[in-house]
Amino acid sequence: MTTNENSPTHTTPPRRALGTTGPAVFPVGLGCMGMSALYGEADRAESIATIHAALDAGVTLLDTGDFYGMGHNELLIGEALRSAPAAAREQALTSVKFGALRTVEGGFTGYDGRPAAVKNFLAYSLQRLGRDHIDIYRIARVDPDVPIEETVGAIAEAVQAGHVRHIGLSEVGADTLRRAAAVAPISDLQIEYSLVSRGIEEEILPTARELGIGVTAYGVLSRGLISGHFSRDRALAPGDFRGMSPRFQGENLDRNLDLVDALRKVAEGRGVSVAQAAIAWVLSRGEDIVPLVGARRRDRLSEALGAMEVRLSAADLAAIEEAVPAGSAAGDRYAAEQMAHLDSER
Ligand SMILES: NC(=O)c1ccc[n+]([C@@H]2O[C@H](COP(=O)([O-])OP(=O)(O)OC[C@H]3O[C@@H](n4cnc5c(N)ncnc54)[C@H](OP(=O)(O)O)[C@@H]3O)[C@@H](O)[C@H]2O)c1
Repeated sequence: MTTNENSPTHTTPPRRALGTTGPAVFPVGLGCMGMSALYGEADRAESIATIHAALDAGVTLLDTGDFYGMGHNELLIGEALRSAPAAAREQALTSVKFGALRTVEGGFTGYDGRPAAVKNFLAYSLQRLGRDHIDIYRIARVDPDVPIEETVGAIAEAVQAGHVRHIGLSEVGADTLRRAAAVAPISDLQIEYSLVSRGIEEEILPTARELGIGVTAYGVLSRGLISGHFSRDRALAPGDFRGMSPRFQGENLDRNLDLVDALRKVAEGRGVSVAQAAIAWVLSRGEDIVPLVGARRRDRLSEALGAMEVRLSAADLAAIEEAVPAGSAAGDRYAAEQMAHLDSER
């Protein structure tokens, strides 16, 4: 294993194509969710500085959802893009999820994938982002009351109209992938994939590959659990996703942090950080997989981008998978109520 001492690279690594029809992107994308929601308070100026640093390092893909902070995240990205140098602004590709229905109190009440709703969500997102198009547009979770063909068909119309460039999917299973791909070209499936969440390997990833659909992998650090920076005594703010996530509770957390200790030994033995080993492992799983890292600060971003310089040998990969064997995580990746919305888990 070699490392660039954890600093972001300024040599341009080869881009990764998002499927056979999607854009070629920098090998690591920036997921902006934590800058507005789910992981406690974030610092606005630092969030914008992190987006600027990512663009400066060559990152192209900025991932968001219109429901992250109920519009806050898109406004933040819009502001960051407006204040970035023109070249950085032009290189940025926006990946937006829509469909979640929210309450004033911040609750989630379901998903709306009706064609009229798609067009409504899209109009608001374009306004908040301050762009005339969205590069990849996808429903966050399948609306059980609307056939995926109708939702994807509505996005395909937005592609025809020039408001969207590519169609993506999120957390869907193999059948839905096939049905959607029969309607219009799909660039990528966004889905959780990490050392501790390998559920896609059996059926979903082979199907995506068969159909020429790329993968944007989220949760590559399992929401920080396997970042090396999470500890048993970390206090979580009210509403922090991890306060409700089965993997962060009681004995599950103890068992999962034991896995991180084992991973740390392997990482340290090779001079890289735990987070870098975990991200590099995802990068090693195929040129069609682009990890989205959820850095909210420049130091975390710098660490995450350093993973691109980590070359894992077959022996390194074996040692990492021995430290964190497939299926060894304790607890589901979501609470039961949220698992029920995952087409990918049916
Ligand atoms: N399609 C979907 O259903 C879906 C679901 C969730 C997320 N996403 C997208 O995927 C993106 C990434 O997801 P995620 O944020 O849950 O994943 P993640 O990268 O697994 O976790 C991010 C967490 O890891 C911690 N961390 C520690 N060291 C880090 C490092 N070096 N780099 C980055 N983070 C580090 C960060 O918190 P601290 O720095 O505070 O420790 C942050 O809380 C999101 O921003 C969102 O755009 C999509």
